[in-house]
Amino acid sequence: MFSGSVKIGASLSFLVLIVAYLYKRHADEILQERLRDVLSGLLRAEKKISLESKRVAVGFGACEDIFTNGLNLLHHLNLTSPQEAVHQDLVNTPEELAQLFAFFFESGAAAERYVANASLFEEIVKAGMKGEGYQWAIGGNAAVIARRLAMEGFDVLLGARMGQNALDTISDSVKVIGNSIPRSDIHLIMEYKTNDQWGKFTSPRANRLVLHNDKVNPFLDGMEEFLDKVLTFKPSLLVIGGLQMMDNFPDDKGVRFERLEKLSQFLQKLPRSTLIHFEMASFTEFSLLTEIIHKVIYYCDSLGANEQELPNILQVVQGKNVTLVSDQRPRVATVLDQIRKLYAALGDTSQMNGRRPLTRIHIHTLAFQAILTHPDSAWKNSMSATAKAALTAHRHTCGDHDIDAAKARLIMDGSFALSSQEPKEDINDSSTKNRIYVNNQRPVSCWEESGLLPAHVCVAPVLVCTQILKTAGGGDNISGAGLVLQI
Ligand SMILES: *[C@@H]1O[C@H](CO)[C@@H](O)[C@H](O)[C@H]1NC(C)=O
Ligand SMILES: *[C@@H]1O[C@H](CO)[C@@H](O)[C@H](O)[C@H]1NC(C)=O
Ligand SMILES: *[C@@H]1O[C@H](CO)[C@@H](O)[C@H](O)[C@H]1NC(C)=O
Ligand SMILES: *[C@@H]1O[C@H](CO)[C@@H](O)[C@H](O)[C@H]1NC(C)=O
Repeated sequence: MFSGSVKIGASLSFLVLIVAYLYKRHADEILQERLRDVLSGLLRAEKKISLESKRVAVGFGACEDIFTNGLNLLHHLNLTSPQEAVHQDLVNTPEELAQLFAFFFESGAAAERYVANASLFEEIVKAGMKGEGYQWAIGGNAAVIARRLAMEGFDVLLGARMGQNALDTISDSVKVIGNSIPRSDIHLIMEYKTNDQWGKFTSPRANRLVLHNDKVNPFLDGMEEFLDKVLTFKPSLLVIGGLQMMDNFPDDKGVRFERLEKLSQFLQKLPRSTLIHFEMASFTEFSLLTEIIHKVIYYCDSLGANEQELPNILQVVQGKNVTLVSDQRPRVATVLDQIRKLYAALGDTSQMNGRRPLTRIHIHTLAFQAILTHPDSAWKNSMSATAKAALTAHRHTCGDHDIDAAKARLIMDGSFALSSQEPKEDINDSSTKNRIYVNNQRPVSCWEESGLLPAHVCVAPVLVCTQILKTAGGGDNISGAGLVLQI
């Protein structure tokens, strides 16, 4: 009897195992099917529009990116993990580097910081090149976006000064405006993977900390010459990025703000037939970001940002201090709410004084892409552009144009709320009005909104790469890819 019930117990648990196994296999199959549907849906949406080659100008700056494994680099510097993760506006000592790295590593947030100590920076670069498998490539927001646009067949003007090494890697379809210099500014990229361990710190997602000691980029060297050329080049689009190199740059005489004023004067003169896009980045200086909003962003039609940069600029637009880290996996509803607030603040045409209203906002996050446009603006093909941005995110991080569903994962849920704020009126209306169900065959969801300002919004899920080759430069590639289909 005893052994009988043991037997029954054993076969029961065996049965449970089989059912669990079959259930899991079924669930995996459903996931795989959803992944394949979303992939082919995104590819169809991307292909729907054939590209027309246009003229685009991109400023400012370029550098040589050195990609390293962040933890190996710290090891080569003999730096052990600190007691505490502490934010630093800029880096002077090895200890500050350790604390800063721990701070962003622990939250998995991308960041870029100035190393004020030149000899320390030299040491860091040397240690980075000691590590096995470091790579270098031309970098800097402007240069990466320029190359991306050139790859799409556009005719590109790039405002940047760089060394011959870097110049040699730039294709003929990019015309570089700016005299060459003996040595490019170097950006040292400390990459890390999801769940990497440094002492007691663990990274929640793959990302990177970028260090620089720029000499040329912070003052927008060569800006005048570039802007002169833009006037005769008459581009359809001017892209502005790289201004974060000014962040925390020692500048007693206020030269940076003079440079921004000069740029501002130019933007105010530029005919409206040239659209202007601003690419956000990691800013920590409240006064600098405020100045950039007033002098530059007020005269831009479009803004690109990631999930960290969006809350940061929103806070500063609202007169609050900068934010250093935000949720690195925000919900769609949260991001949509932030986009609406930014749009309400910068898209309002009532008190303009010669400003350009913001008519396009593109937000890139790990899990999804979102693009808002004003329905009456010049921006076209939002649905396909959002799909292309989502595909580019995967292609860049996985390092392959062809997407393998086996190396992809969907993080975005099958449906999302349009807002995390409670709908004010009509409590009985629990219908689909406030929630969007993603159609896997047509994975880009687009809809119209009629708030104070009308808006057309598209959201596309990203096929998140599970075998990451690189994260740095992702945002620039993604933003560039989104723009090519919209002009
Ligand atoms: C790290 O320590 C090793 C051995 O103690 C030493 O040879 C090396 O020079 C140190 N590196 C740095 C960057 O201080
Ligand atoms: C700069 O870094 C070096 C280490 O490379 C350090 O010895 C020196 O104290 C640092 N200078 C300052 C001003 O912090
Ligand atoms: C906020 O503002 C204060 C004073 O202006 C400043 O000291 C501080 O570093 C700022 N940044 C953050 C993230 O709080
Ligand atoms: C991103 O841009 C760089 C050029 O700066 C290029 O080498 C890389 O292939 C791009 N990634 C994608 C997915 O296009």
